[in-house]
Amino acid sequence: MTPLSQLPIDVVVMAAGKGTRMKSRLPKVLQRLAGVPLVQHVLNTAAQLNARSAVVITGHGADQVEPLLLAPGQAMAVQCVRQEPQLGTGHAVQQAVPALADDGVVVVLSGDVPLTQADTLQALIEQCGGKQLALLTIDFADPTGYGRIVREGTQVQAIVEHKDATEAQRQIQEVYSGIMAVPAHLLKGWLGRIDNQNAQGEYYLTDVVKLAVADGLPVVAHKIADPLQVAGINSPVQLAELERAHQLRQAQRLMEQGVRLKDPARFDLRGQLDCAQDVEIDVNCIFEGQVSLGEGVKIGANCVIANCTIEAGAVIHPFTHIDGEKLGVTVGEGALIGPFARLRPGAQLGAEVHIGNFVEVKNSTLAKGAKANHLAYLGDATVGERVNYGAGSITANYDGANKHRTVIEADVHIGSNCVLVAPVTIGAGGTVGGGSTITKSTEPGALSVARGKQVSIANWARPKKQPKA
Ligand code: UD1
Ligand code: CA
Repeated sequence: MTPLSQLPIDVVVMAAGKGTRMKSRLPKVLQRLAGVPLVQHVLNTAAQLNARSAVVITGHGADQVEPLLLAPGQAMAVQCVRQEPQLGTGHAVQQAVPALADDGVVVVLSGDVPLTQADTLQALIEQCGGKQLALLTIDFADPTGYGRIVREGTQVQAIVEHKDATEAQRQIQEVYSGIMAVPAHLLKGWLGRIDNQNAQGEYYLTDVVKLAVADGLPVVAHKIADPLQVAGINSPVQLAELERAHQLRQAQRLMEQGVRLKDPARFDLRGQLDCAQDVEIDVNCIFEGQVSLGEGVKIGANCVIANCTIEAGAVIHPFTHIDGEKLGVTVGEGALIGPFARLRPGAQLGAEVHIGNFVEVKNSTLAKGAKANHLAYLGDATVGERVNYGAGSITANYDGANKHRTVIEADVHIGSNCVLVAPVTIGAGGTVGGGSTITKSTEPGALSVARGKQVSIANWARPKKQPKA
């Protein structure tokens, strides 16, 4: 017999349903939880299982769903199969049959159940063992609407849908999660035999249970206790509830690693956050994409931080927005950023850099100890060590067609309200007088002033208002 760990796994994701209660133009499985489309969560989990293939059943909104699934960089090879019209979950899985090999274990998942963990599915697959039907089940205090697990003694006999259930069956609290693991060859045989003679006139996937029992094959239930792992999304309220529950879990995981969150209920992570020791995060911060925080980093309240590396001891003051997008952002050791700062893609800040309020930095390198403390723009600039960049100064990096670089060498002092028209280099140790528009490169050590000369007229009388005629 094939060892369990070598059983090929093929995942089938049902994602054809309408999602009427979302009341959205966006198909339900593309709604986002923690910043990621619901169906993408499911595929990420499938990838963790090292599944051989994934077949996604699309229908409603297929034109929008399929491009995401087939996009390059997808976690695993995905095949899309359309189900039109949608005649039930059994009919949905029937559409996948031609795409499924006979030798595998099929794991059936739903595109709107995002938080199932790979280890749970692994345990379910072990229960299946490549030889029998295994159902993921859970006890609900209020099982209304779910398919009930009907047992005789301990043996599972059937799943009865709520609408088809007798009063006595409706008392059963153990429900089917919508997730099963089943040998492909058995599933294929049963799918050919299900009908739609039920309260909803649908082909129920859940009818495979009674067919297995009729064939004298065992059906096992793998019961879990964690409702988040089987929670499906049908409405904006459920989406928001699951988002909060998921965020709280992520917050708890970080706190267990030692991260000090001021309030785990006011924390959002939409991606991956790696934290060294003694990181402190104040309330209402959002982290997106890949973020890494070095030892002792402090993040003030109300920051949005995405795709960024912040090195040890740096402090990000409140209301700072950082998004490295594809280029990334680096904040060096002991740097002070904000409040109200904006760091855009390609901002590479060295150690002890200071970026103050209403300062925007894009695609620029600032060496150790450089400072831009107030109301300034640095775009496509290379800034040397200890440069002081005055309030209100900007790099004019765009000539309307092309972008050009500004080089500010070490120890330069740029006064307030300067315009540095790129391409231009300010030589080391130089000074630029406030209000200057610099269009030519300057020599090291030079003072450059490029503005109208001040004229003062002594005892000047202001014009007086003429009396009305
Ligand atoms: C299903 C189960 C029920 C279980 C519940 C758990 C059946 C018959 N019932 O019920 O036992 O307790 O899930 O949530 O399976 N879908 C399609 N094509 C279709 C119909 C549905 O792709 O023709 C997709 C939906 O988009 C959804 C999933 O299948 O992702 C489940 O469908 P849904 O209508 O939510 O099933 P339930 O009636 O909730
Ligand atoms: Ca459902």
